[in-house]
Amino acid sequence: MSKTIGIVTGSLRKNSFSGSIADYVLSHAPEGYGFKIIDISALPVYNQDYDGADPKEYTVFRDEIKTLDGVLFITPEHNRSIPAALKNALDIGSRPYGQNVWDGKPGAVISQSPGGMGGFGANHHLRQVLAFLNVLTLAQPEAYIGSYHTLIDENGALNNKDTQNLIDGFLAAFAAWVEKLS
Ligand SMILES: Cc1cc2nc3c(=O)[nH]c(=O)nc-3n(C[C@H](O)[C@H](O)[C@H](O)COP(=O)(O)O)c2cc1C
Repeated sequence: MSKTIGIVTGSLRKNSFSGSIADYVLSHAPEGYGFKIIDISALPVYNQDYDGADPKEYTVFRDEIKTLDGVLFITPEHNRSIPAALKNALDIGSRPYGQNVWDGKPGAVISQSPGGMGGFGANHHLRQVLAFLNVLTLAQPEAYIGSYHTLIDENGALNNKDTQNLIDGFLAAFAAWVEKLS
């Protein structure tokens, strides 16, 4: 049976680099895998007062995460960490206490940046949060994609062959990881 992997991107920006990588992934899924975008842009900022009387967006989001066979995070780096919108989504999925929807999901992380370090800081801050949420995150290979603005065409589509190969290999490793955990 086909497996469904959610893509959560850390960017709310139109035509984002993270979205460009997500578009590539959507059209290059390994056999037996389907990827779908999980939209985090409409999630209200988490407030513990909501627990038990949650905004509808929280319930829809949590229910969607529960259906997934795994989650691929694709993120930019904001001030050497993950963007606030992504942390918000992680926090929402983790609550109410004892009802963490991320628990036990296979996960993987791709970070990107126009800078040379490819979002290393964000990638590892994200891994730290995922460890606490008990997301079983692929350790190797890692994916830090630097100078992303040089890897796309005029429409923002990834057109650099080496990077395409890197992502293809990464997705194959992630699929093998998901199989191992199934
Ligand atoms: C608030 C803010 C902080 C940023 N901090 C960093 C940073 O620490 N390291 C880095 O490489 N790029 C940083 N950048 C640049 C982003 O990484 C860059 O805009 C990103 O690759 C865009 O990705 P996106 O198109 O998916 O939003 C920052 C951008 C913003 C808006």
